[in-house]
Amino acid sequence: MPTPIDPTETTAWERLSELEAWMDPDLRRWFEEDPQRASRLTFDAADLHVDLSKNLITHDIVAGLLRLAEEIGLTARRDAMFAGERINVTENRAVLHTALRRPAGATPPLTVDGQDVDADVHATLDKVYAFAEQVRSGAWTGVTGKRIETVVNIGIGGSDLGPVMIYEALRPYVQDGLSCRFVSNIDPTDIAEKTSGLDPETTLFIVASKTFTTLETLTNARLAKAWLLDSLAAAGAVDGSDEANAGAVAKHFVAVSTALDKVAEFGIDPDNAFGFWDWVGGRYSVDSAIGTVVAIAIGPAHFAELLAGFHAIDEHFRTAELDRNVPVLMGLLNIWNVNFLDAETHAVLPYSQYLHRFPAYLQQLTMESNGKSVRWDGAPVTCHTGEVFWGEPGTNGQHAFYQLIHQGTRIVPADFIAFAEPAHPLVDTEAGGADVHELFLANFFAQTAALAFGKTADEVREEGTDEAVVPARVFEGNKPTTSIMASALTPSVLGQLIALYEHITFVQGIVWGIDSFDQWGVELGKQLAKQITPAVGGDDDALAAQDSSTQELIRYYRRHRS
Ligand code: F6P
Repeated sequence: MPTPIDPTETTAWERLSELEAWMDPDLRRWFEEDPQRASRLTFDAADLHVDLSKNLITHDIVAGLLRLAEEIGLTARRDAMFAGERINVTENRAVLHTALRRPAGATPPLTVDGQDVDADVHATLDKVYAFAEQVRSGAWTGVTGKRIETVVNIGIGGSDLGPVMIYEALRPYVQDGLSCRFVSNIDPTDIAEKTSGLDPETTLFIVASKTFTTLETLTNARLAKAWLLDSLAAAGAVDGSDEANAGAVAKHFVAVSTALDKVAEFGIDPDNAFGFWDWVGGRYSVDSAIGTVVAIAIGPAHFAELLAGFHAIDEHFRTAELDRNVPVLMGLLNIWNVNFLDAETHAVLPYSQYLHRFPAYLQQLTMESNGKSVRWDGAPVTCHTGEVFWGEPGTNGQHAFYQLIHQGTRIVPADFIAFAEPAHPLVDTEAGGADVHELFLANFFAQTAALAFGKTADEVREEGTDEAVVPARVFEGNKPTTSIMASALTPSVLGQLIALYEHITFVQGIVWGIDSFDQWGVELGKQLAKQITPAVGGDDDALAAQDSSTQELIRYYRRHRS
């Protein structure tokens, strides 16, 4: 990788700083003066319709941001990613999640370090699809011959958040008679609750771990294995012999990993394992075999539609001119918000209950990727990097934290996401036949308008408000939002949304000069947890080695553990 260009040293950065200093944001005036503003700043990418016009940007600011992208060399870095160059510098790896969704037979073929990437991706997909079909059709049974009714995915981070988010988002596509559960936390409550009420004879576990070394996942997998064998034995379904147990594990456990040798060590037959490659980052892996639980739930055809959606946005990102390239524009807009308007957080507010795990999914994608303070050449960054992503579905958030976005002192750029088609077209007959989806969408439209245009003191007074409370009822407006719409939340549209945010994250990382594909920041806590475990378990020498605060906390634990 070439040495990163310091964004703050570019002429574009200087220009953007001047524009920020001169800017007197006034969305009311900007919309009045430019009747074309909405159409000029609205863009389509595949099926996504994205309105950037309610952001605090002008023509000159957009031009400055595009100039920044040019000076940084964004397109060369993007092309390097798609070509399979080792842009993950600190792990010396290619970054090829985009290869996971290339259609079979795509040209030119993609070969990296001698690996025929397309052939490998499609061979694995075929294996996942064949397995998914077996489970869905009932051809794959548990050890007592019963068909599988519940699939439990055991994984954490990227091996959990993507699968659970998609499962929740695409619930209307889940096959009747099948349901999925997700175990991630090493808090034993998680596995206890998720196995509660399950019939071991109809339960299939998928152990999903890129490395197959993750403490949480391996611990939960062992607990799941013990639960399965104990419950089968209690039901008289196995006799408890090693042979019978191995037979039960073979029918009730499959694995997904890049480390198939470790899968075998764990006791899962490698024939029942689905692989992927080190050039797929955990948080970018839901479209690899990590999505096996999803492929089972929604079926191979819908999974293929999901992948096609990802690919449509990949193609848009790869080929669209930068001034119409939605991930590029949204990534640059985030740079403007973070580095020039001092935004510290970014809200993602889906007006779709099915997307209730989407903000959590994006937290790993964006914050594990861009929460860095050194560049890919090891030098310190020269400006703020990754903002805090957070959010909840609307309208719930409106009755909780929107107050701060409307009237607080901090700037919180927000992405609003909504779909024209209701998943459940319900009518409130007692309220005159109101279409409830329309009520819902009216809130979506109203919030971004309220945030942008606010309410002046005069408008408040015109409502006859007591002068003493006029200030409390003024809405300043000029709160930046992006509206993302699509016709319906289909598998393809969901794939498009995920790929959109993957590429936004990439654009920001490239501008900041950081490696968005490593995650060394999670390692120290893991190491310390290993060191501290003996102290928690009663080893006084290990306890004495801890700092005084940690010692006191562990003593409190020891006193209060029954
Ligand atoms: O600890 C962070 C992390 O490595 C994530 O990046 C990853 O998604 C998660 O742990 C799970 O890792 P694995 O899939 O290897 O179990």
